[in-house]
Parts: sequence; C-alpha cells; structure tokens
Amino acid sequence: MRTYDIIKKKRDGEKLSQSEIQFIVDAYVKGSVPDYQMSAFLMAIFLKGMADDETFHLTTAMLESGEQISLSEISGFTIDKHSTGGVGDKTSLVLGPVLAALGLKVAKLSGRGLGHTGGTIDKLESISGFSCDVPADKFIAIVNKIGVAIAGQTANLVPADKKMYALRDVTATVDSIPLIAASIMSKKLAIHNKGVVLDVKVGSGAFMKSLQDARELARLMVSIGRQAGRKVTAVLSNMDEPLGEMIGNSLEVLEAADTLQGKGPSDLAELVKVLASESLLLSTNRTITQAEASKKVEEVISSGKAFQKFIEMVKAQGGDPAMEKLPISKEIKPLVSEKSGYVSSIDCEEVGLSAMMLGAGRETKEAKIDFTVGMKLCKHVGDKVEKGDKIADIYVNPNHPGNEKAIERLAKAFHIKAEFVQPQKLVLDIVS
Ligand code: URA
Repeated sequence: MRTYDIIKKKRDGEKLSQSEIQFIVDAYVKGSVPDYQMSAFLMAIFLKGMADDETFHLTTAMLESGEQISLSEISGFTIDKHSTGGVGDKTSLVLGPVLAALGLKVAKLSGRGLGHTGGTIDKLESISGFSCDVPADKFIAIVNKIGVAIAGQTANLVPADKKMYALRDVTATVDSIPLIAASIMSKKLAIHNKGVVLDVKVGSGAFMKSLQDARELARLMVSIGRQAGRKVTAVLSNMDEPLGEMIGNSLEVLEAADTLQGKGPSDLAELVKVLASESLLLSTNRTITQAEASKKVEEVISSGKAFQKFIEMVKAQGGDPAMEKLPISKEIKPLVSEKSGYVSSIDCEEVGLSAMMLGAGRETKEAKIDFTVGMKLCKHVGDKVEKGDKIADIYVNPNHPGNEKAIERLAKAFHIKAEFVQPQKLVLDIVS
C-alpha cells in the first residue's frame, strides 16, 4: 500500500477501504507518513468528504492509536457528556452532579481551555485544593461512591487525534464534518461509557454556523456511537451568544453552584435539564417519558441532592467547597452602552477572546491563567438598553497590562440596533 495512492484516491473522490484508512493513520502516528502527506490527505477529506462507513473506519483507526479506559469496575450506567465547545459553557460542572444525583455514573475526563474557549479542568482548579490529577484507582472509587468525578485527559488518549488536530489547526481543515466527528467520537469511544450525550453548539460562537451542518454532524456522531455499541443522543443548542451570564473560571464555578441550587440563569438551567433528561432516557431505554425524566431532574435540583453531590465531589477531589472562598477579583469595572436600542447579537468568539485578554484564558498551552478575572454579562440578545445602561461587569486584576484592550474588545462584541431582535431558541433540535 502506498500513501500517495491513498491520497490520490481520496483527492479523486473515491471511497477508501478500512485497511487504507487504517494504514495511513497508523503510519502517521508511527512517524512514517510525514506531516505534508497527512496534510494533503486531510485536505482531500475536507474537499471530497467521506461516506459514513469511511468516517466510522477513520474513527476506529484513531481510537486504536492509544490507550482505552475500561470502566468495568464501575457499577451502574456510565455516561459521558461532550460539548463541541462554546463561551461561558459551564454545563459539565452542573450536569455531572445532577446525573450523579439521578443515580447515573459520571467518570468524566475533561480538557483545559485554549484560545477563546474555557476548559472544565481550569474552572474546577479555581476551587482551592481541587485536583484533577487523580490516580485511576481513586478516580474509579470516587465514581463508585459519589457518582461523579472529573479528571484531566491522560497523555496517551487518542494520540492520532492530538497529531491530526494540531495539523488541521494550521492547514485550514478543522471545519470538516467527517473530521470533527472522527476527532470527537474517537475520544468518546476511548473511554468505555455505556452512554454519551452530545451538546452540539450552533451559531456564531460554534464550529457549526448553520443548523443544517450541526444536524449533519450530530447525525454522524450518533451513528458512529451506535455502530460502536454505545447509546448516543445529540442535543443541538444555540451558541449565538454566551451561555449564562458569567465568563471566567471562578465566576463560572459560582454560577454552576447557583444553578445546582435552582438560582442560576434560565438558559443554563434549561440546557442542563434537557441534557440530563436525555441522559436519563438513554439509561432507561426510554421506558420513562420525557415529562417523567424532566420531573426527576427538577426534583434532584429542588431537593438539594444535586448540589450535595457537587460538594461531595469537590471534597473527594481535595477541594474546599466554601463558595465564598473562590478567588474572585474585587476590582469590578462596569461597561456601559454607548447607545440606546436592543441587543441584536453578542459575538461569542470576541467575548471569549476578551476574557482571555483579561487573563482568564491562555493564548499558548504554557500560559498561566488568572482564576480571579472574567465578566458578568448583564444584557442578552433581545434586551432593551438605554444609553448609559450597564451591559457588563468586568472583573479585572488591576496589575494586568491587557485590561484596556480587553474591555474595548468586549464593548465591540455587543451589537445594538434600533429594532427589536427576537432571541434564538436555546434548544434547536435533538437527534437520537
Ligand atoms: N472538538 C474536537 O475535539 N475535535 C474537533 O475536530 C472539533 C472540536
């Protein structure tokens, strides 16, 4: 088999066999296929696409490139949740404890933030003492006892994706539906959960800008998961504006804790309810109705059970559960509107980049983040504003040099028009 022939076949729009896909992925991970040939192969996929079975073979070839994590020692229905990425997306911090309170088992491996998107691990590490570096046996023990634990991804989890993603990032081949599906699902299948609930973000702040593309990505990921013997549902949710009000590490933990106590913003609460109900439907083989599932979710929040699970998880992972001790800056600068009208859109990526410039995110993998900074958005799409009204509170570190530029960027992210703009629905579709 020759790499050249495989690239040429895909370039000409022909279908690749399982062995051809396996060959090129294996050889790339071993180093015998150079970056320039893999780049050409990825671009051929970007331009010509892949049939569903080719994408499945690509996913399994990537999955088999590294270690897989068995969860056989965990009793009960193990479930994972994955978001395709957004700004202010602290859903996992709320959903994990909610699912644990419902009796499901959440052994979650999460990532750190890079660029404009935040990462669950960084958010949790803003809790004093909290460690995501948990040995495997302790991790399993916490999940068995409490129902939820969140740790960092191991270095050898899907090395093919690490190498291919780095290349896609610099060769303009990220936004390809089969490549995104294989990248996400290879990482989901590497951890042997029984169920997976996917939150596919749609809109200006997401990879998928149109509902049609998001539906196609969701359909493909659900089909890959099913073929691999997992139960998968995808929820399509709006990312045309940030989720919730808080952006920044400690601030997002605070908002997650509020939501777990029924005091959170309505969009975050709604998304958690839908994702948790769908998880419950998967775990019960849909022997309960949607309404019954929603009611159970509401009960674990209103009874305090879900928040209690959060506190137990924080303690088990070495953290201090006293929310008043979260490191949050006392230096708050208000951002006011320069004109009157209605908020017509909030550019998510710009908001995320502004938070990063305040110090809440990292530009490079090595950069240190400042847990204390971020912002609270006071206005949302569709809200009426008068000139001089506060649109955000910005939590800054006064010694940080990037503040002025970050605030300017946030101001430009808010678009205000004279006519009322109807906000998008939050949950746009469910593919299951
Ligand atoms: N998230 C991933 O893990 N991979 C992609 O390709 C896109 C988003």
